[in-house]
Amino acid sequence: VKGGYDSFMRKEIHEQPTAVADTLRGRFDTRGQLMLDELRIPEAELRSIDKIIVIACGTAAYSGHVAKYAIEHWCRIPVEVELAHEFRYRDPIVGPRTLVVAISQSGETMDTLMAVRHAREQGARVLAICNTHGSTIPRESDAVLYTHAGPEVAVASTKAFLAQVAACYLLGLFLAQLRGTKFPDELRETVAALQALPDKIQRVIDTEPEIEEVARALADEESFLFLGRHVGYPVALEGALKLKEIAYIHAEGFAAGELKHGPIALIEEGQPVFVVVPSPRGRDSLHSKVVSNIQEVRARGARTLVIAEEGDDDVVPFADVIFRVPQTPVLLAPLVSVVPLQIFACALATAKGLDVDQPRNLAKSVTVE
Ligand code: BG6
Repeated sequence: VKGGYDSFMRKEIHEQPTAVADTLRGRFDTRGQLMLDELRIPEAELRSIDKIIVIACGTAAYSGHVAKYAIEHWCRIPVEVELAHEFRYRDPIVGPRTLVVAISQSGETMDTLMAVRHAREQGARVLAICNTHGSTIPRESDAVLYTHAGPEVAVASTKAFLAQVAACYLLGLFLAQLRGTKFPDELRETVAALQALPDKIQRVIDTEPEIEEVARALADEESFLFLGRHVGYPVALEGALKLKEIAYIHAEGFAAGELKHGPIALIEEGQPVFVVVPSPRGRDSLHSKVVSNIQEVRARGARTLVIAEEGDDDVVPFADVIFRVPQTPVLLAPLVSVVPLQIFACALATAKGLDVDQPRNLAKSVTVE
């Protein structure tokens, strides 16, 4: 059943190029135009949306966090991301021009389902992004965009996360196409780049042995910090979550800009810190700011584990370890930069002799509130 792998999680990490390719397949015409016929929400309504609220839990919520950066940039629609269990208890402002996007691998998470019901009662349109056909959340939503990751068995989500992120990109690109965008060239390039991503994800997976070796060497550590900015921020959060879930190690993700406002006090000799470095071709001076962050934590004794694009030499002087990922447009980077973190967590938990597929105290789908 595990196809020769020692765990479902490792198998599912290896299935990620296919999960993303299958999620993209059939959703573009030959000119690269998106066709999301399955969105049964009338186009006039999609054109008049004035706000998007993403509701989800756990890893699915981090995919929504990535979606916020992409959709706000491409479509100029404000996007809020809310943990589903907080949503209905805060008197959210929801109306007929709000699109609520509920993201769930299982489609059965009770917290997310209750938020969907609340949103619909308030008059919002609800679109589900879901991996499980016929499950409750899509059935109770106005429309559904299925991810085609295939069944995910390991409790800690990997391939479903990549497929959710890909589906969020599809939604953002579709809305931009429908409503017009200030960046038509960028959008065209993004569509082409998205289709090239499965191969790039595979290239990261091919580096698994090097990542595993580093993970084994760090198996006795008690705490890890993860820093990222822009779309690298939710990637940092997801990297930390993976370690907590399956390796039972204290791990925290931060927005790297927040470092100087508190977390830097945690840095002491030997503290391992992962840093997700934005592309040097990105906007503004984010890249150099994050490189400075690596320098700052290293100067205080941290051991730095850096996720950086191929060809980014600026990180070399300050990195104890570099995990390379292929170059991608900035907003698509999470699809490659999260992969080393997944492999790392899986390898570390395996090295500790833990059951990576069935971590203690967790369930694949939490059907109680
Ligand atoms: C959690 C799972 O309880 O539910 C996580 O352990 C998952 O892995 C989260 O991300 C959300 O699940 P779903 O099915 O709604 O995506």
